[in-house]
Amino acid sequence: MTKQKILIARATFPDLLARLESQFEVESNQADEIFSAQTLQEKMRDKDAVMVTASEAISAALIATSPRLKAICNIAVGYNNIDVAAATAAGIMVTNTPDVLNETTADFGWALLMATARRITEAEHWLRAGHWDKWRYDAFLGADLHGSTLGIIGMGRIGQAIARRSMGFDMRVRYHNRSPLTPQQEAHANAAAYRSKEALLREADHVVLVLPYSAATHHTIGAAELALMKPSATLVNIARGGIVDDVALIAALRTGRVAAAGLDVFEHEPALHPDFLTLSNVVLTPHIASASAPTRRAMVQCATDNLLAALAGRIPPNCLNPESITNNH
Ligand code: DGY
Repeated sequence: MTKQKILIARATFPDLLARLESQFEVESNQADEIFSAQTLQEKMRDKDAVMVTASEAISAALIATSPRLKAICNIAVGYNNIDVAAATAAGIMVTNTPDVLNETTADFGWALLMATARRITEAEHWLRAGHWDKWRYDAFLGADLHGSTLGIIGMGRIGQAIARRSMGFDMRVRYHNRSPLTPQQEAHANAAAYRSKEALLREADHVVLVLPYSAATHHTIGAAELALMKPSATLVNIARGGIVDDVALIAALRTGRVAAAGLDVFEHEPALHPDFLTLSNVVLTPHIASASAPTRRAMVQCATDNLLAALAGRIPPNCLNPESITNNH
């Protein structure tokens, strides 16, 4: 029997790749080249499944030219890089990697929040530049986390994990979400209280964004929203670029409309708006919120399990569109 053909679009853990190579004819990319849409199209043309990251855009056009494709397995919980509707119409299963990264990503949200509020990277850069010659009463004064009000926009599994961590800081939690949590879920999330987006922005000392990106959430935070925030407030984005209007945020950071921001994601990443690099009140990280060693392995393992199930004719554990089965070719 001829082996099914798969494409692993980016470099990955060699032992997990070897497991796939024992079962499939694998085209891998351990050199970790970034494929253009055209290269991706050529490589996907004869494949039964493809494993991608959030950096690869899997458009309707790519799907249309991949006649054998049965599964698109994302190594990410967010899947805005994939045209799921086009995949569903073509009978292709789409999978993501939820849950395995919840706690790691929540930890990172806190790391970024604390670094931002307490100006840790700014202070370190200053120290490394040799400026530290004496202790000062007013050096790098930041905002307190403890006792403050935390606003979480996007209260899914990661948002709730962030809220749980705030108990140790005696914080009040306000959240905004497509739909309110159950009273039981709210109780577990440090007695989080639902607010409209506008009320949350007015009330919170620290705002964390953890919502999925879509056309509906594009520029959830723009100039109008930043204008509602307290001038002393911080904003953290660990969700996706595009949720924040980067140009509006730069203006708000520059004028002191908001105190500081912590950003792990950017509108045009990996390209940054150059003005971010000129601002001292922003902490910048390269989309690493889920990047702990065990969690990144767990994500690839999860994507591998999804791919194996799909090519064995089963519905994968994290299938986003089980209805695609009825359109199967
Ligand atoms: C995710 O899982 O969505 C992370 O942002 C990694 O892309």
